[in-house]
Amino acid sequence: MAAVLRFLIAVLLFSSIATASLSQEEEEFSEELLLKPLADRKVLAHFHFESKAPPTRTYGHHHRLFPKALYQLVQKFRIREMELSFTQGRWNYERWGGFDPISSSNAKPPGVELWAVFDVPHDLVDASWKNLTHTLSGLFCASINFLESSTAYSAPDWGFQPFSGSLRYGSLPREAVCTENLTPWLKLLPCRDKAGLATLMDRPSIYRGFYHSQRLRLSSTEFGSTEVESGIALDQTLTVVLQPTTSHRASMTYSSDSVLQPSWSLSSIFGRKVSGRCVLANSSNVYVQVERGLMSELKILHAEDEGSGADNLTFEKTWNNPGFELSIAPNRVIKEVNILHDETSIVLYEYLIDNYSNSEPFDLGFTWKFPVVWSSPQAPLHASRFLMGSGNERGAIAISLKATEPSDGLWFADTIENSCMLRFNVFQVVPWYVRVYFHTLQVFVDGKPQSVTDFIERMRISPSEDKVSPGVMEMALKLPCCVKSVTLTLEFDKV
Ligand SMILES: *[C@@H]1O[C@H](CO)[C@@H](O)[C@H](O)[C@H]1NC(C)=O
Ligand SMILES: *[C@@H]1O[C@H](CO)[C@@H](O)[C@H](O)[C@H]1NC(C)=O
Ligand SMILES: *[C@@H]1O[C@H](CO)[C@@H](O)[C@H](O)[C@H]1NC(C)=O
Ligand SMILES: *[C@@H]1O[C@H](CO)[C@@H](O)[C@H](O)[C@H]1NC(C)=O
Repeated sequence: MAAVLRFLIAVLLFSSIATASLSQEEEEFSEELLLKPLADRKVLAHFHFESKAPPTRTYGHHHRLFPKALYQLVQKFRIREMELSFTQGRWNYERWGGFDPISSSNAKPPGVELWAVFDVPHDLVDASWKNLTHTLSGLFCASINFLESSTAYSAPDWGFQPFSGSLRYGSLPREAVCTENLTPWLKLLPCRDKAGLATLMDRPSIYRGFYHSQRLRLSSTEFGSTEVESGIALDQTLTVVLQPTTSHRASMTYSSDSVLQPSWSLSSIFGRKVSGRCVLANSSNVYVQVERGLMSELKILHAEDEGSGADNLTFEKTWNNPGFELSIAPNRVIKEVNILHDETSIVLYEYLIDNYSNSEPFDLGFTWKFPVVWSSPQAPLHASRFLMGSGNERGAIAISLKATEPSDGLWFADTIENSCMLRFNVFQVVPWYVRVYFHTLQVFVDGKPQSVTDFIERMRISPSEDKVSPGVMEMALKLPCCVKSVTLTLEFDKV
């Protein structure tokens, strides 16, 4: 049953800065790939393709870059925002980190997930959703139309995304994700997978991965509901976690008894190289990201290597250091500016793909020279959900939130006792055949029962209806940062 239930937690630590993009005059397409060595010997590859079309009011609808099918979708259903994702495997928060604003801050659960915000009167939102799921299943994959059924989707008010009334959310957690889902998604790119970074998407390599999540996100200002008219933006991302094959060198043991991480290159993980950018792309870049934890380990290595007088700034600018070596010199090194972590920062090595070609393809290699052990930054809370009581018919659902090690120190920034507060939302959808007794809600803080109102700032419950609609619970919690664990329990019967 746990797989049927959906649970999402939005940690509202970084208040997302609204990007008030200026009204643009031209269409634009950019492609980028971020590669990141993970602490558990795997590699993260995060592809991001962005297409932007200027507002119809000023530009018309003759698009060269923006996919026509999606432009029509936005117009027909008056979509303000929409996200569709296909995910296979579970994101491993502990090993791969839970706090990387660049690639993994919003890891998706397995299966198909769709949400959309419509710019239509509230009484038309359900009809628009149904028609949209119908059209999407023609565009992408036949199963999306299962989300048409009122038992399969819900109408969160604010707990999921801050839109009131006009948002619908549905998921198919058991849906198997396969190559058939990728093909229509690639067709939306101006060069498809025939040129540019998408040529790396070799199906067997990607589907062999430990996790992959393919997403499509649309946002538009076409219907005058926002002050800034920026047109339509389409973001397509594909996140994959791959295991580079271990070469014989990696089995060598070092004095510290640790094992060298497997080295990799684009051709070794994807079986392909990049023979130039997509000619229609306004920019085409590849980034290698070195996490803060790895950077600080490398810094220690470097200091041991060069003596204590080592120049730290120069060190971070090098792509050939005591820990690893990149086969190509980057065009630029970008260092995170973070006042809370002035000692070590995330470093990005940037490569421009402009000048590569068939005769000189881009095949970046990452070679480890010394075994390095590090850990990824963790999200402030680890969330889990389980059932209590005997049998499946009657029992209780528990949602448990545990503070992770304060590795990032962010929420301890404020040292004055009790003034540091952690705010987050819990959004829980329950299938109609599980009757949850919401009045039985109990809150345990650090194991002790507490008054619900002391920690819950806001709550909205919409009970399930037999064979009609699922139950939805939205909750805004506010906790002092010193709290170690919070458990919410609710009793239920299974119909
Ligand atoms: C992006 O490139 C396309 C095709 O080459 C071009 O038509 C368009 O003007 C460019 N857009 C911007 C914002 O530079
Ligand atoms: C949904 O589709 C039906 C049948 O094609 C149509 O009659 C109706 O107007 C559509 N509603 C919306 C809100 O798009
Ligand atoms: C550079 O590294 C040395 C040795 O690790 C350290 O003592 C010093 O504070 C660092 N300097 C800066 C500016 O980070
Ligand atoms: C690409 O080649 C052009 C022409 O030779 C040159 O001006 C430009 O700087 C090169 N770009 C990069 C990123 O190397």
